[in-house]
Order: sequence, then structure tokens, then C-alpha cells
Amino acid sequence: MNKADTKFIRRSDFPANFLWGSSTSSYQIEGASRNDDRGISIWDTFCAKRGNIRDGSSGDVACDHFHRWPGDLSLAKDLGTNAYRFSIAWPRIFPNGVGVAPNQKGLDFYSRLVDGMLERGLEPWATLYHWDLPQALQDQGGWANRSTVDAFVRYTDVVSKHFSDRIKNWITHNEPWCTAFNGNYEGVHAPGIKDFKIALQVCHHVLLSHGLAIPVIRRNVLGARVGAALSLHPLHPASDSDEDAAATKRHDGLRNRWFLDALHGRGYPVDVWTQFGDKVPRVREGDLDVIATPTDFLGINYYFPEVVANEHGSGILNTKVVENDDVERTAFGWEVCPKGMVDLLARVHRDYRPAEIYLTENGSTYEDVLRPDGEVHDEQRLSFLIRHLQAARQVVDQGIPLKGYFAWSLLDNFEWAEGFGRRFGLTYVDFDTQRRTLKASGKWYRAFLHGTN
Ligand code: FCB
Repeated sequence: MNKADTKFIRRSDFPANFLWGSSTSSYQIEGASRNDDRGISIWDTFCAKRGNIRDGSSGDVACDHFHRWPGDLSLAKDLGTNAYRFSIAWPRIFPNGVGVAPNQKGLDFYSRLVDGMLERGLEPWATLYHWDLPQALQDQGGWANRSTVDAFVRYTDVVSKHFSDRIKNWITHNEPWCTAFNGNYEGVHAPGIKDFKIALQVCHHVLLSHGLAIPVIRRNVLGARVGAALSLHPLHPASDSDEDAAATKRHDGLRNRWFLDALHGRGYPVDVWTQFGDKVPRVREGDLDVIATPTDFLGINYYFPEVVANEHGSGILNTKVVENDDVERTAFGWEVCPKGMVDLLARVHRDYRPAEIYLTENGSTYEDVLRPDGEVHDEQRLSFLIRHLQAARQVVDQGIPLKGYFAWSLLDNFEWAEGFGRRFGLTYVDFDTQRRTLKASGKWYRAFLHGTN
């Protein structure tokens, strides 16, 4: 890339201690879904039902990372990243969700994995819940049942104690919005329930479990740093009408403020709470204080903004996300908007002042092709990455405490309901041979991180 190009960006534009990483999650990459006494998760069950996954696939094999992790971690090291975000599969630790003793083989797998990170100079960032709930807990009502909160705290206790010497950075939950609403209202994710009241209760319990897990991790891990990773979206009204402005505020109330307000001690936003009528969750005295337990950082997964219109009868809040044609989109249809990332982080900083912010996920999907020359020329993803790093730099320049960036994802992987059709990796994975090929975007990230771009 021409250095005179305004698109140019270097690692040295960021503070020296900025964290550079990539992200993955257990169900999306590990495979080996029956190995070493792993229990069944809600995603195994969900995938087994015809029609739930676009290509009829599952995470049974995925990237076979369970066996190939040494090579995969070496890929992360070769990129020049100094941190790696992964998730622990709860059903590998407690195959039935709870139990007297954890599954030692499950702990051993993550022990090898974490040692592998440390050997390669990768700081482990562990997510405790990236959606693979043990099916046995779902059979008891899942997150809608308050006892799942206790089970999560127990699982957290066991895992954080076991890794207290090696993992300092803990993310309790990945994207509680998706857990609650993709899984229990829209029904497009496991467990495939379509009930708004249940979804709100799930949401409350997930947030409660986050708050209860924090002191447990702190007790077990000296110098622990704990936070949650939220999926947040900058929102814009579809027109300048008062109705669309009000609709955007309502949509924001559930998409963003529901989580941000609760985590920052403001409770659930009253303006949307009052709209939910008898669907509001059961909240016990003290729950909101627990949810607001102070954290060390806020993780933000940034993908795309949304345009919102008022539409009577649409959804719970009479709001509709509309798509105007004239914007750039990824193959998923998600709008490409690096500026939205700057606006979003500025807003979070202004309104909530988290001590530190990490972009725990950011990335894009396109129709990648492995060419006969053995290369994947993913120019669009490369451009997406560069522009979002430029946006990250603007965020830092504004004095917002953004401390790190994790690209989603290290590898192409199992993209939930979309199956293997949506590639998000910096590394191309041939799912027949399990061969990995660094894409042009990955090569650029490597050059960027080595300071040779
Ligand atoms: C996020 C998820 C992650 C991945 C990306 C594309 O919502 O956290 O697992 O699916 O989207």
C-alpha cells in the first residue's frame, strides 16, 4: 500500500501497550463434540434439528481446533498478536452443567491450550459463556430458570480457580443480547425459543450471573480483570420525523441501554420497561446492585449500525430496522460503517465512562475464494480491516480509553445458524482438508503488527 495513501495506518500510530488480538469461540472452532466426555450443549441439539442451520451443518467437527490448536495458536503468534480471545465450553467442564466434580479431561484440554498461548506470548482472554449452554440445564428451563445462575457461578468458580495462575483476563458473557433475543425471542439461535417474556427473563439471569461471577473470579485470581462483551450498535432514525426519532430511542433502549444502563448502576431503562407490560422479568431485591458490580473493562463487539423506523405492530416496540440500498454492505448484508464505531465508542465513553474499553470483536464476511495460486485475495475484508483500525485510532486520539482490538476471527468457522457459508477469518479454512491459508487481510494484519506494512 502506498504510504501517501490516506488509508495508511501503522501499529506505531497506537500506544505501545495497546493489545492486539484475534477472537474465536469454542463451539465455532473446536469440533470434537463428543471427545473427552464433553456433554451435549444446546447448540448440538439445535443443529440436529432440520432447518435450523442454513447448510444443515453443525459444530461437530468445525475447524477441528480441539486437535489442531497448536498450529492455530502458532498462526496467531505468527500474525504478531499478543493476546488471544477464546471461550471455554461449559459442557467440557461440567457435562451436565453442574456436578460434584468437574470433568478433569475438559480442564486438561484448556490447560494445554492456555499453556500453548503462554508459550507463544499470547495473553489469554477467556470468555466463560459464548452460547454453548449444557443441554441438561436447558432441560430444566435454561437461563430462564434462576438456578442456571447458580450453576454458572459454580462453573466460574471451578474454572477461575483452576486457571488462577495463568488467566488474568476474564469475560463473563459474550453478547447477552444474542443469548437472550436471538435464542429465546427470534428463535434463530439455540435453544430456538420464540417468547419475548422468556427472553427478558433469560436476559436478566444472564446479567445477574455476570454480576455474581465477578467477586468469585476476583477471590480466585489475584490481579484478575473482569468484564463482559456486549454487542452494541449505533442507531439512526430512518427519517427526520418525530416518530422515527422516538422509535430509534425505543430500539436503543433494548439494543444498547438495557445492558449499558443495568451494568452501570442505572437499572433497566424505564422508558422501555414500561412498554413491556406483563412481559417484564422477575427481578428480586438486590439483583440490580449485583448486575452493577464494578468491572475492569467493557468489551464491545462492533459490527454494524442500524437504521430504525416507527412501524405500528412491528416487534414488541413498534420499531423496524430498515435497509437503505445505497450503503456498502458485507456478504451478510451488514452495513460497513467504521465511523459508526467511533460514534459508538464516543457515546459509551461519554454516557457510561467504563474504565477501559476493548473491541473484543470486529470483522466481516465475504465470498472468499481460494485461488489456484493458493491465495485468498480478500480485498474487501482487507479494506474493512484497515478502515476499522483507522477508526480505532481516531477513538484513541479522542482520549477514549480504548486499550485493545481483537479481530473476529482468527479462522473461518461455524457461523451459527449460517453454518459454514459465512467466512469471517483472517485465515481461510478448507473444511474438507482442514488446511489453513492466511488470506490477504491476514497477511496485511501480520505486516501491520510487525511494523512492515
Ligand atoms: C458475533 C458473535 C461471534 C460471531 C460474530 C460474527 O455476534 O459473538 O460468535 O458469530 O458475531
